[in-house]
Amino acid sequence: MKARYDIAIIGGGVIGLALARELAAQTRSLAVVDASARIPPATAAAAGMLAPSFEKDLGGGALYELSAASLRMWSSFAVSLAEETGADIDFRSDGILGVALDAAAARKLEAQCAALAKRDADAAMLTGTEARALEPALSDRVTAAMQAPEDAQVDPVKLTAALRLSVERRGAALIDDYVASAQAEAGRWRVALGAGDGFVADDIVIATGAASGWAIDGVSRPPVFPVKGEAFSVASTSAASLARVVRGPGAYICPKAGGRIVIGATEQRDRADLDVSAAGIETLRGGAVDVVPALEHCAELARWAGLRPATPDGAPILGPAGRRARPAWLALGHHRNGVLLAPASAAALAAEILGNEPDIDLSPFRPNRFG
Ligand code: GLY
Repeated sequence: MKARYDIAIIGGGVIGLALARELAAQTRSLAVVDASARIPPATAAAAGMLAPSFEKDLGGGALYELSAASLRMWSSFAVSLAEETGADIDFRSDGILGVALDAAAARKLEAQCAALAKRDADAAMLTGTEARALEPALSDRVTAAMQAPEDAQVDPVKLTAALRLSVERRGAALIDDYVASAQAEAGRWRVALGAGDGFVADDIVIATGAASGWAIDGVSRPPVFPVKGEAFSVASTSAASLARVVRGPGAYICPKAGGRIVIGATEQRDRADLDVSAAGIETLRGGAVDVVPALEHCAELARWAGLRPATPDGAPILGPAGRRARPAWLALGHHRNGVLLAPASAAALAAEILGNEPDIDLSPFRPNRFG
C-alpha cells in the first residue's frame, strides 16, 4: 500500500471493480479497498442475469435506457476482459425466456412485450408449444412465453475474479480492509482503514453496496437499504437441461457452465442478515419445479443469501456528493441490476471523475435527487 493515491475506490463488488478497471487505464495511481472478507458483496450472490427486458416496470425511461445501453456494452466488455485476463466468465448471449402458467401471467408478459416494442427492443410472444420447442424441459403447464433474444447472462463469481485480475494488471492496488473513516483535509481525503493504517487520496468513490456504517466527512448517508435475496444451485440432469435463462412467476432458472443451475431469488426488504431459510428455498424450488418439472430430481449443490443495495426509486445513485470543492463520488444502489449496469455505470462515472463528458446522461441518477 502506498501513502498516496490519485483515486481510491471503496468497495470491491462488481461496480467498484468495473469502475476501477476503467479508471486504472487512465490514472497514475489507484486503490480499491475491498472488505469482502467481512461484508459479502451482492455480486457474489447474484445470478448474473443481464435482463433489462424483464424489469418490473421500464423505469419511466432513464433506468431502462441505462440498462439497455449497458446490455449493448456487455459483449465487448466480456470479450476485452477475456482477452486481457484469459478468464472465462461464462458470458452467454442466448436470450432469456419469460414463461406464464396462466392467463393473468400471460397478459403481464404481453404488456411487457408491448412496452418493449415501444422502445424498439427486440422481444416476441410465443405460445407454450413454441416455448417448449426452444426448451423441451419446460412444463406442459406453460401457456405462453416472452422471448427476449438480446438479454444475456454471466457468472458473477468468475466475473469478480476476472475484474480483480484486470484491475491488478492495470496497476491498481487491491487493499483487503474496510474504511473506518474518510476526512477531507487540505483538498484531499485522509482515509483511515480498519487495520489502523491509511493513506491520502485526491478523490474517493463510494461503491459499498448495501453495507452501511461508513463515515464520510461532509456526505450525508445516501438512502440505500438492503433487500435480501436467497438463492440456491442444483446439478442439472439431461431432463432438466436448459439452453438459456428461464424466468417463471415464482423463480428464475439460470443454467451455468459445468451443469450447474442457479435458482433465485427471494426478496425481503430491510433484512441485513445472510441467514438462508428453508422456507425461502422451498418456495423457490416450488416455483422452479412448476416451470421445469425435472428440477424436482436435481441434487442441491449450495444455498446462499446476498443483499441487494436498493434505493427509494429503484435507480442507482451516481455522481458527486458532499462539498463542492472536494466531493466524494457515489456509485451506489444498483439494486437488482449491478452486474447488468456495471459497464455503463463504470464508463460514465469514470468519464465524469476524470473531468470528461460521459456518453451517457447521468443527471437522472444524481445523489441530490432525494433532497
Ligand atoms: N437480478 C435478479 C435479482 O436481483 O434477484
